[in-house]
Amino acid sequence: MSIKVTWLGHATMMIDVHKTRLLIDPYLADNPKAAIRPEEAQADYILISHGHSDHIADALAIAQRTGAMVISNFEIANWFNAHGHENTHAQHLGGGFNYPFGRVKLTLALHGSGLPDGSYGGNPCGFLLYLEGKKIYHAADTGLFGDMRLIGEEGIDLAILPIGDNYTMGPDDALRAVRLIEPRVVIPIHYNTWDLIAQDVRAWQRRVESETQARCVVLDPGQSYELS
Ligand code: NI
Ligand code: MN
Repeated sequence: MSIKVTWLGHATMMIDVHKTRLLIDPYLADNPKAAIRPEEAQADYILISHGHSDHIADALAIAQRTGAMVISNFEIANWFNAHGHENTHAQHLGGGFNYPFGRVKLTLALHGSGLPDGSYGGNPCGFLLYLEGKKIYHAADTGLFGDMRLIGEEGIDLAILPIGDNYTMGPDDALRAVRLIEPRVVIPIHYNTWDLIAQDVRAWQRRVESETQARCVVLDPGQSYELS
């Protein structure tokens, strides 16, 4: 059974496992590199890592149109409830839950989480997904932290890491993250959306592949990687 991982630009990932579609951090309408329009997005579950607009901008509209369950921290799940979307499941940092498609654990992330309307968004998170015997770590927006090593101890098949710098880890720290996590495969995200986070992703790919044991898969927005 393969798991299809599609990058839609920025931190937005679509993961298809069996007949279930997960959409992580949808940012499409205002994203100059988005692969699809928000009206085209389909999802059974929407995972939200934190409250910043470049992660949550289109989530409410997609959730309401599709009826998808929103999985996030307690504060953001409540925000969806308060805005008329009842189908949510709140978790919090370090906690996992077994859904019909697999398990989701919220990991630490060093970042902020204020919502666009000024509401308190709790603490930001990343996601550790256990799907079909595979482990996928989507770090979301974060700086480097040493406990990535603990996440790596689980045996990560695929790590999805920001490399854009300024708001998150840049290329140097993201390379150190690969050393801590030791994933089989790494996909870089959260770069080249705007000039402020422009990076030479091919140079980073060469460094990953020469300086670590990981394979680096570089996607264009809209491209997929089959994890098997
Ligand atoms: Ni952010
Ligand atoms: Mn961001």
